[in-house]
Amino acid sequence: MNYLISFTVGPPGSGKGTQSPLIKDEFCLCHLATGDMLRAAVAAKTPLGIKAKEAMDRGELVSDDLVVGIIDEAMKKPSCQKGFILDGFPRTVVQAQKLDEMLARQGTKIDKVLNFAIDDAILEERITGRWIHGASGRSYHNKFNPPKVSGIDDVTGEPLMQRKDDTAEVLKSRLEAFHRQTEPVIDYYSKKGLVANLHAEKPPKEVTTEVQKALS
Ligand code: AP5
Repeated sequence: MNYLISFTVGPPGSGKGTQSPLIKDEFCLCHLATGDMLRAAVAAKTPLGIKAKEAMDRGELVSDDLVVGIIDEAMKKPSCQKGFILDGFPRTVVQAQKLDEMLARQGTKIDKVLNFAIDDAILEERITGRWIHGASGRSYHNKFNPPKVSGIDDVTGEPLMQRKDDTAEVLKSRLEAFHRQTEPVIDYYSKKGLVANLHAEKPPKEVTTEVQKALS
């Protein structure tokens, strides 16, 4: 397939951010992660970041208008002209409808939705053990995917950090938002026959194999 538009959907910690960069590399796509973009805006204290921070810290979703705006802008980048993988967007049915409208205006549509299906009970250990490289969004885990040197990014040698919303307490709100607002997005695209259900509880390499099958 020469041109591919796909997105990952799943609860916090299901592995979207781990698999998306691999999909990006294998299929030469651009990777647009709304969570990473919003965290960069918060760190830079831009007007967008200031608006988004409170909801993110509480584990709630940021308003549809804000995220639709950043995706609309990002999709126009030259690096996205060969297709893209959206990571963490759309997360509400309104966002899904807006995305479909944006793509229809460009004469394209979603090819595949990768649903990272997993039991909630597995997620707390994944979330509280996660370490990230802030600049790239690269994700590690102290047990499941440790960096070569503890606390240090394998690629840049820079220190890793933990996300402010990666606590057991905030995870409860994030899961509540997922079940109430994002699961309907999976139903929305299931009715269009576009959803590939992955076994996201499996080890990372096995999930990668499922992703490759779903996209080939
Ligand atoms: P976002 O950054 O998108 O967070 P999230 O959806 O909660 O997802 P996570 O990044 O927590 O999990 P992941 O699935 O990427 O897991 P990962 O691969 O890192 O969003 C953050 C916030 O921004 C939202 O709460 C919201 O406020 C806002 N926002 C973002 N997009 C928005 C939108 N569209 N609309 C409104 N608001 C929006 O894996 C987790 C850990 O597990 C890692 O340590 C990893 O190493 C490990 N791991 C991964 N896979 C496996 C495996 N198979 N086995 C064992 N361990 C694994």
